[in-house]
Amino acid sequence: MADYHISCMPVEAAHYLNLRPGGTYVDGTVGGAGHSRMICTRIQPGGLLVGIDQDLDAIRHAQDVLAPFFPRVSLHHDTFSHLDRIIGNLGLAGVDGILLDLGLSLHQLEGSGRGFSFKREEPLDMRMNTKATITAADIVNSWDVDDLIRIFREYGEEHRARSIAKAIVKARARKPLESSKALADLIYRSMPPAAARKQKIHPATRVFQALRITVNRELDRLQRTLPMAVACLNPGGRLCVLSFHSLEDRIVKQTFREMARTCTCPPRAPVCTCGGEAQVTLLTRKVVRPTAEEIAANPMARSTRLRAVEKR
Ligand SMILES: C[S@@+](CC[C@H](N)C(=O)[O-])C[C@H]1O[C@@H](n2cnc3c(N)ncnc32)[C@H](O)[C@@H]1O
Repeated sequence: MADYHISCMPVEAAHYLNLRPGGTYVDGTVGGAGHSRMICTRIQPGGLLVGIDQDLDAIRHAQDVLAPFFPRVSLHHDTFSHLDRIIGNLGLAGVDGILLDLGLSLHQLEGSGRGFSFKREEPLDMRMNTKATITAADIVNSWDVDDLIRIFREYGEEHRARSIAKAIVKARARKPLESSKALADLIYRSMPPAAARKQKIHPATRVFQALRITVNRELDRLQRTLPMAVACLNPGGRLCVLSFHSLEDRIVKQTFREMARTCTCPPRAPVCTCGGEAQVTLLTRKVVRPTAEEIAANPMARSTRLRAVEKR
């Protein structure tokens, strides 16, 4: 794996994580290890970084990149939705900060050979964890048309979900769709040529996003992990999430708001009966976006959105 370490919003992530020497921090999405390395440099002496990624390539790469910081680094090939178990197995009662930098790493997109990019002729796989059972090819070649329409709409916000799903079902009856390029070309051809040329993004972008989210159960895992991550924090500990599209950001925003509410009674209830206490304080009332300078230096950062909370 090449040394990919262009991290998004590293300055803001460091600020909201409140990194300090001697603290224990989790990078739940190690990827190219850029954020992990930044965290390690700021928490010494005495700090510990717990690094998690469901992609074995990322963990192997991090073993090299973070070697100077061993033994103050503990790396785990796992999903961040097992964070509570990982922390428990390390004998830690809680941690001081958790970072989740969602989405794909540059390595996965450009160098993994797993069909994440519609620009390449690669097997239609899209698994971040290659030990997982279901691939994008399994979905496009075996799911019925209604399920394809549902995921393209729900996870891709694709307006042409129905016609694309029908084109897939028709094409696969002749020959299974096995490469990312074959799928991207089919989606392109399923559009009227004038409309395809007018698109600002490649017509396959939304379908690829939907397939990737489905294969890796991204939204479901994020939804389950956020409250559990807060539970793993020490009082005053921080959770900082970087997301890349509105579906992820909506989950983060709503979950954080919910956890910051003092009262969970229905809005029309005349008096509070729940006695609820806020679990977190919102550190970012509005979403934080990268600076113009960062976007100029790293155009891939342009859609990053950062939100953070502090445990009460
Ligand atoms: C955007 S990259 C992280 C980049 C990293 N912050 C850096 O500075 O290089 C996202 C990484 O999160 C990993 N990932 C996504 N969902 C995950 C999950 N549920 N559990 C563990 N890792 C996950 C992906 O495999 C990928 O390597």
